Amino acid sequence: MQDRVLLSMQHITKQYPGVLALDDVSLDFYEGETHALVGENGAGKSTFIKVLSGAIRPDEGEIHINGFRYNEITPLLARSLGIEVIYQEFNLMPALSVAENIFVGNIPAQYGIVNRMEMERRAAGIFESMGVFVDPQAPVADLSMAYMQLVEIAKALSKNVRILIMDEPTAPLTKNEVEILFRLMKRLHEKHVTIIYISHRLNEIFQISDRVSIIRDGQKIGTYLTADMSREKLIWGMVGREITDTFPKSEKKIGDVVMRVDKLCGNGVQDVSFELHGGEILGFGGLVGAGRTEIMRVLFGADMRDSGAVWLSDKEFNARSPYESIAAGVVLIPEDRKRQGVVLNLTIADNIALPNLDAISHFSVINGAAERKLVGDQMTSLRIVAPSAMQKVRNLSGGNQQKVVLAKWLAGVAKILIFDEPTRGIDVGVKQEIYKLMHSLCEKGIAIIMISSDMEELLGMSDRIIVLCEGTQEGILQKENFSQEAVLSLASGKQ
Ligand SMILES: Nc1ncnc2c1ncn2[C@@H]1O[C@H](COP(=O)(O)OP(=O)(O)OP(=O)(O)O)[C@@H](O)[C@H]1O
Ligand SMILES: [Mg+2]
Repeated sequence: MQDRVLLSMQHITKQYPGVLALDDVSLDFYEGETHALVGENGAGKSTFIKVLSGAIRPDEGEIHINGFRYNEITPLLARSLGIEVIYQEFNLMPALSVAENIFVGNIPAQYGIVNRMEMERRAAGIFESMGVFVDPQAPVADLSMAYMQLVEIAKALSKNVRILIMDEPTAPLTKNEVEILFRLMKRLHEKHVTIIYISHRLNEIFQISDRVSIIRDGQKIGTYLTADMSREKLIWGMVGREITDTFPKSEKKIGDVVMRVDKLCGNGVQDVSFELHGGEILGFGGLVGAGRTEIMRVLFGADMRDSGAVWLSDKEFNARSPYESIAAGVVLIPEDRKRQGVVLNLTIADNIALPNLDAISHFSVINGAAERKLVGDQMTSLRIVAPSAMQKVRNLSGGNQQKVVLAKWLAGVAKILIFDEPTRGIDVGVKQEIYKLMHSLCEKGIAIIMISSDMEELLGMSDRIIVLCEGTQEGILQKENFSQEAVLSLASGKQ
């Protein structure tokens, strides 16, 4: 088949105050190809696709679709051209049902009366064609991140999509769910839908894409046939340096027990028991929905405990709120950074300073110099890309928002850190920085609980792994028994 250019984006430039997000980027997309877009956090990937979807206006450039030329695309035009986007941040309405979300703006009605059954029937049909089961009547607020993702995809499929853009669609998904998504993408590929795919998981790029384009600091580095690329070449193009040993070595020593959890129950999870040692990274594996986040929220005091006991050293610990927990040195860094992790309307500096006020103030007066140093140090060590610390977090790229969440807590107060998916949406270079930081925290005696759906990360970083399945603890793996098979068989409840 002759490759036919369906979409051509020419000389796209977008300037934000202090940031040249896109600098004269030109890219062509073939009809029916899966084209990956890669680059570090803040490189300009999301900005590029927002230009295509009409969410933002470029300062310069033109777009050719099917031979027609547009200086600018509006959301309405995008829709009529069959361009659909699944954004990094979900766009669902939590109070509405799954079916209502899929057909929002497009609800089947007759004589002005909403045909709810028809809507739910069609929604069920779309999920069936996707090979997944989601209850069309369920309120979206009750769904896990993975299921919200599936609803987003169903929403795009309910329209006559020709160009499907996915901005880090697999970030919240587990391995099985990623496979469902990839099967779906292959089906769309056969129907000659053009897919633009953004992901920080390089394995996926090789698995699913025909071609790959690299963007660095708002500029195009190049477009390549994926088959001609290697992982090393791709990383080199993205970060401009070599990265070896994703999982750094550590000299850390495992210390005494700092937390004991005995038959903790709550939030639909039963009888979780473990001992956590200072300097240890205790991994939590399992499928999405296994109850890992849920039980950690109970431990943290964000949700009610039904029964069970927790001790910190020899003191009973029964946090009834996150405040109590943080005061006791137990901090949870949530997976859903938009809703729980940062205050989007505050600056980077304020977000980082907020939990560290004791360290930088004296009798309630903030020491400006100390604050600037604290914030500056965190921004440097995590390489947070922003024109200044006074930038609002809302305006940062997805990965950089995630880094601000981490920076808030890495600066100081915690003795026990619970990380829920610590590197989701984070580029390869910074991932390694975060791993190094985790090790250096452990070297100071801090204990880490790490929930991770990234198998390599779980196996590469943990000292022991607890696996949950459907709300119960299936087992604890010691380092010498670590393997992907061992985790998966426990995660699926097969022992
Ligand atoms: N509304 C905005 N105001 C100011 N700056 C912005 C705005 N939106 C994006 N930027 C900046 O533009 C740059 C590119 O951001 P973009 O979101 O496109 O990055 P990205 O490649 O998608 O990164 P990530 O992998 O972290 O999602 C970043 O430096 C970001 O801070
Ligand atoms: Mg992005």
